[in-house]
Amino acid sequence: MRASKLTDTFQLRNGVEIPCIGYGTWQAPDGEKTINGVKAAIAAGYVHIDAAAAYDNEESVGIGIKESGIERSDLFVTSKLWNTERGYESTIRACEKTLKDLQVDYLDLYLIHWPAARQQFDNWEEINIQTWRAMTDLYKSGKVRAIGTSNFYPSHLRSLMKEEVQPMVAQVEFHPGHLNSAVVQYARENGMLVEAWSPLGSGRMLNDPLLMEIAGKHGKSVAQVCIRFALQSGILPLPKSVTPERIRQNAEVFDFELEEEDMMRISEMGPAGWSGLHPDKVDF
Ligand code: A2P
Repeated sequence: MRASKLTDTFQLRNGVEIPCIGYGTWQAPDGEKTINGVKAAIAAGYVHIDAAAAYDNEESVGIGIKESGIERSDLFVTSKLWNTERGYESTIRACEKTLKDLQVDYLDLYLIHWPAARQQFDNWEEINIQTWRAMTDLYKSGKVRAIGTSNFYPSHLRSLMKEEVQPMVAQVEFHPGHLNSAVVQYARENGMLVEAWSPLGSGRMLNDPLLMEIAGKHGKSVAQVCIRFALQSGILPLPKSVTPERIRQNAEVFDFELEEEDMMRISEMGPAGWSGLHPDKVDF
């Protein structure tokens, strides 16, 4: 996929088209900042919003969408099922609440936010399957147009691959210096689109000397280089910002291209820190 604008899409295995950059809302504080951020993103041309119940700001995201005046059918909206809601019945209920909070009557994509972890549950695999069966039924009912996972590693994805409907998206932390290669490779081999959360390393990568050098060469910012790096890796980036100027800047990534050598140098830069949130080790 060679994207040249925000409305260009990747295609999921079920044919659903997903706009190539999503506006991330993790760590966006509930209230005016999130409302205005969503409005600024839509005004800047973003047509894909990545939300989650656990970000505690879905009502604000919903207000931002409403106030932007965009047609629902012109927007791609993702949300995620939080960990306390795993299991069949609560997954169905949680999706209803998210739809209400976002003021929409369907989601374009619904993800399980984190797998049940083996450290916490002996029956972690069974919990994930029951949750997935509810996701499947939500998909079949048309409440959600596509389903997938967030923070699942191949060990968690394997059992879902044996289910009637297989995940269409694998969202994972991905940025220069943290390539999550095992997940990316497994997802690709099994027909899932990879989405990158924290494509700028939550801001951590912005002062990296190599990225600054490459950004300087192209006359772009490091954030723009990180977003291009994801896109040119075939991965859908979800940059987060509540600052209108940065929101616009993060969308201006179609007027330059990283050269093969740039891509190689970034891919080979070695570990450069990450959130530290390993799905089998988190305590939430
Ligand atoms: P803010 O939201 O205050 O504008 P990630 O997408 O990797 O999670 O990174 C998000 C962090 O990076 C936030 O702290 C955000 O700050 C900051 N950020 C986002 N875009 C840019 C940009 N273009 N330039 C500098 N910082 C940015």
